[in-house]
Order: sequence, then structure tokens, then C-alpha cells
Amino acid sequence: MQKSSIHPFASTIMAWYAEHQRELPWRQTKDPYAIWLSEIILQQTRVAQGLPYYQRLLAAFPSVRDLAEAEEATLLRLWQGLGYYSRARNLQKAAQMVMRDFKGSFPQTYDEIIRLPGVGPYTAAAIASFAFDEAKAVVDGNVFRVLSRVFAIETDIMSSAARGVFTSLAQSLIPAQDPAGFNQAIMEFGALQCTPAPDCSVCPLAVFCQSNKEHRVADFPVKSKKTKVKEIQMDYLVIEQNGLLLVRERAENSIWKGLWEFYLIEDETEWPAFPRKALKSPPVHLLSHRKIKCDAWHVQVPDNFALAIPEGYVWISPSDFESKGKSVLLLNLITDNLDCPILQDISPTYL
Ligand code: ADE
Repeated sequence: MQKSSIHPFASTIMAWYAEHQRELPWRQTKDPYAIWLSEIILQQTRVAQGLPYYQRLLAAFPSVRDLAEAEEATLLRLWQGLGYYSRARNLQKAAQMVMRDFKGSFPQTYDEIIRLPGVGPYTAAAIASFAFDEAKAVVDGNVFRVLSRVFAIETDIMSSAARGVFTSLAQSLIPAQDPAGFNQAIMEFGALQCTPAPDCSVCPLAVFCQSNKEHRVADFPVKSKKTKVKEIQMDYLVIEQNGLLLVRERAENSIWKGLWEFYLIEDETEWPAFPRKALKSPPVHLLSHRKIKCDAWHVQVPDNFALAIPEGYVWISPSDFESKGKSVLLLNLITDNLDCPILQDISPTYL
């Protein structure tokens, strides 16, 4: 039988990868659970930031069963600071699905893996190739950038056609002999060499990179629509009485569901009663579709005043509040206001 030939694109980036790859713990394992965990963490997070979370989460939940059976609050606390908390909740739902529908053993094919909550085409391809050597090409932002430049692809990466176009191309390039190596290589190449501002003078693909030949590297990838960023104003009251803080766990459907926060002013007329002392505003907090500006005030309620507690809120000591999962925005608010004594007592930990 004829051995299938490797496209020069694949052999070049794989040779480059052999020399330039970073040593990362999820590359030293074939355990699909560990690989899945790493890929979920890295979905919206840089490697340097995600690495310690990967190590702590894997230590806390060494198996899919441990994760399935964990307290959601424990998981969210360990996730604290990473943002996009729906990832953590989906992670646990998926672990529970593996226990229930796959008898505790991680699904082994792309078609099964993609059924897990929080797992899309990119993540399913990553797990199927890294853990099980299935020849499914990964397509993420790095891959869009590399392929669009090398092959001068004019398809708008924001268009609905883009995923199909780039997936077909990547799929035609992936070598059956080593799909995992190819996928790692193309992502690493995008992360380290074919960066948004690349140095093409040291690029091993420069000789057959179409956009480089045309001196149009900066024109790719083609990206038209800008994602619309919604601006949001949030106002917090840090309400203190008898050394306790009035806080709540976010229950409603929001990106911060399950995280804890101070009193959120949703109707400006609600809290006229006590003098407020303005706190320093944390820096504007950017999410992929939201820009959040936050202002906050400290309110000292007299010890003997019988305050009507708004629904959903509870009194909590600063040390108990410390152990609750909080958004990065709230952690920044606390860190910026450590001259306020009760906030000092929370000792903000990003982990
Ligand atoms: N980003 C997403 N997946 C990755 C991986 N496996 N290695 C490095 N960076 C990544």
C-alpha cells in the first residue's frame, strides 16, 4: 500500500514544532480527561494564565468522577479569576454526563465528544486528535491566521462560511500518520511564529507563503464585522454592619451565576438612607461582548439599626466572604480599596 504523502505545509510546521514547542503538561499526557480540562481552560485564556489553574484543578479533581461529584461552589472557587464561569459549570455537567452516559469512561470519538456540554468543533477535534489520534483538524483563531496567510484566503473569518472553508482546508492538510502532532504544531505556530505582528524573516514557511510573496501578510486574516461591545454600568454598595458585609450569591442566569458579590444597586432610589463613602473604581472590565464600568461606595450601617435585608442577600463575615468565588471585577474592586478596613479583612486571593 502506498504511504500517503505529507503536504509540505504539514512537514514544515511539524519540523518547526519539533524545535520550538513549549513544554506544557497537557502535551505530556494521553489522558482525555486531562486534555479536555486543559482545552476548556485554554478556550478564552492565555497559556501562562491557564497553567496554574490546570494544575490546581487536576490536583483537586484527579478523575472525571471527582469532578462530577464536586460541590459546584468548590469548583467555582478554584475557577475564580479565570472568568467565563459557564465554562466551569459546563465542565461539571459534562463530567456528570460522562459518568451517566459513558459509564465513567471518557468518550473516544469526535462525534461522541462533541455531544458534551461546552465542547464545540475545535475542542472536540483537539481531544479526539491529542488523546485518540483521530485525524480531525483543529480550527481556532491561530489556525485562521496561519492558513489565511499561507494560502491567501480572502474568506472573511467572521462570516458564516469561514469555519467550513478553513476546516476543509485544514482537514486536507492533516497527515494521517500524526494528526495530534499536526494540530499541536499549527496552533503553536500561530501562537509563537505567525502572530498578529509576525517576524516573517525567520519564518520557515516564508518561501511558499502566498500572502508573504504578495507582501500582503498584514491583510490576513480578513475580518470585517467587529463584535459589538455593550457598555454596562454597575454600582455596588459595600454595606457593613457589626463587622459583617451584606452580600449575595448570583442566582439568576448571568455570566456570574454562582459567584458572590456586594449589594448591587439596580434601582437608584432604593438606598437613600445612609451616607455613602465613594470607593475607588476598579479599571474598566472587558469581556468579549461587554465593557463594564463599575462604581462603588462604602456604607456603614449603625450597629443597632434594624435594616430590612433585601431579598437574596445575607450577612457574612469578611473571612467567610474570602472563601467564596468572586468575579475578577469584584476582586479588583477589593484590591483597589484596601484602605477600607473591612475590605482589608477579606484578603483578596486570585489564587
Ligand atoms: N491553546 C489551546 N489549546 C492549546 C494547546 N493544546 N497547547 C497550547 N495552547 C493551546
